[in-house]
Amino acid sequence: MRRQDLNDYLRVRGRAIQSLFDTIEANSEGTVIVDRNLRIVWMNERYAKRFGLDSGEQAIGRVCEEVIPGSLLRRVVNSGEPILLDLLDTPQGPMVVMRLPIHGDGGEVIGAIGFALLDELNGLAPLVTRFSRMQNALDSARRSLEHARRAKYGFSHYVGNGPASLEVKRRARRAAGVEAAVLLLGETGTGKELLAHAIHGASSRAGGPFVSVNAAAIPASLLEAEFFGAVAGAYTGAERKGRCGKLKLAEGGTLFLDEIGDMPLELQAKLLRVLQEKEFEPLGSNQVIRCDIRIIAATSRDLEAAVANGEFRADLYYRLNVLPITLPPLRERLEDLPALCESILERLQQEGAPAVEIDQGALACLAAHRWPGNVRELGNILERAVLLSDAAVLDYRAVAEAMGQRVAKSTQPARMHARRIAVEPLAVARERFERDHIKEALNQCDGRVEQAARRLGIGRSTLYKKILRGESPG
Ligand SMILES: Nc1ncnc2c1ncn2[C@@H]1O[C@H](COP(=O)(O)OP(=O)(O)OP(=O)(O)O)[C@@H](O)[C@H]1O
Ligand SMILES: [Mg+2]
Repeated sequence: MRRQDLNDYLRVRGRAIQSLFDTIEANSEGTVIVDRNLRIVWMNERYAKRFGLDSGEQAIGRVCEEVIPGSLLRRVVNSGEPILLDLLDTPQGPMVVMRLPIHGDGGEVIGAIGFALLDELNGLAPLVTRFSRMQNALDSARRSLEHARRAKYGFSHYVGNGPASLEVKRRARRAAGVEAAVLLLGETGTGKELLAHAIHGASSRAGGPFVSVNAAAIPASLLEAEFFGAVAGAYTGAERKGRCGKLKLAEGGTLFLDEIGDMPLELQAKLLRVLQEKEFEPLGSNQVIRCDIRIIAATSRDLEAAVANGEFRADLYYRLNVLPITLPPLRERLEDLPALCESILERLQQEGAPAVEIDQGALACLAAHRWPGNVRELGNILERAVLLSDAAVLDYRAVAEAMGQRVAKSTQPARMHARRIAVEPLAVARERFERDHIKEALNQCDGRVEQAARRLGIGRSTLYKKILRGESPG
């Protein structure tokens, strides 16, 4: 570089610095300069007026926060770092501000300068409106997510006062009081998800999130990212920004692992680590993340059998099996039928269905069914019965009709049934035969219990007992 150019450069640079200051100063809504001790040494008129002073002179010598509440010039002086863009609240609305340190000849900080670039009227309003609109949208999305993540049910939603149901609730309450993993076992529709919500809601984590993952509903290839999250570009098709896993979402709360029996073996190993070490690594990252979650797992599969044939890790099974709760199938707690029907009919009514009652004949008809779909199936049948009948009382015929349609259409047996081997214990077979036989008798007598009892050669109250309590023949 020639000497001439160098001089030009220094001259132009000097001019640029001067212009920068002049331009900003002339166009800004306010300018203030402080010394090393944060005393104001200069403030322009406009800015002084904004903070309620008559002139800039009145500000001189005063500590800057006294005049400009919320000023961050002190931070700039102390750190020597500029704050290039920030929002400052003032009595007339927010302003966009820039704060720069001022250096002495030796490079030391001798003060700071603050510019207020825009105020609400002068260009900031549209930005602020847009920002607050986005903020509002975000807030309401957060609220509805929070609502969705809170427990939906309490123990009172698990209807049933028979001995089997009371035992389930007793164990669930105990599980709510501790931190260990819980394993919910039971056929489809027995209330596993309902109970998981209730346990979370009664636990010390109730204030935290309740997050569910269904291992059977998500393709195995995506399950790991769903669980542990993924860093950007960790796998083909991964979102560019990476992905937040369910483990992280459940932090401080409960993770509900639904259909855990369907979890791929590879993932089972990683889940074991979460249970044992309370840590995991997001997909594509080697950073170990610690987590604080409580696990409730559920399955309708026979896990012991899955362990025996190598589909489920034994170590994970033992780890999860600390507090197992087996939810009885509906056919083994027929004593709860009246209460369940009442609560389901009440719910239907709340949802807009006509108010109906249910009579003994209808209950008898329901009690004779095997209920492969359990309480969910009961709900469906009652809903159909209410829709089909226009009487105020559901009787045997109304319920039988609703069930008949279902039986004709349903071709899918429940999963546990499909897995059942051909030869069953004699007591079970006998019980099933008796139930079918009673059902047939009731059918032929149009639900008239007394007549059916006569034809079966037993007393009326014995028949009631059998159909409502699911007693095996003595
Ligand atoms: N004891 C109960 N009292 C009242 N409602 C119940 C009860 N058990 C189950 N339900 C109802 O039955 C339906 C099915 O329950 P839930 O989804 O909890 O079953 P699940 O065991 O998770 O079934 P799946 O294995 O098919 O997922 C829900 O509408 C639930 O509210
Ligand atoms: Mg479920």
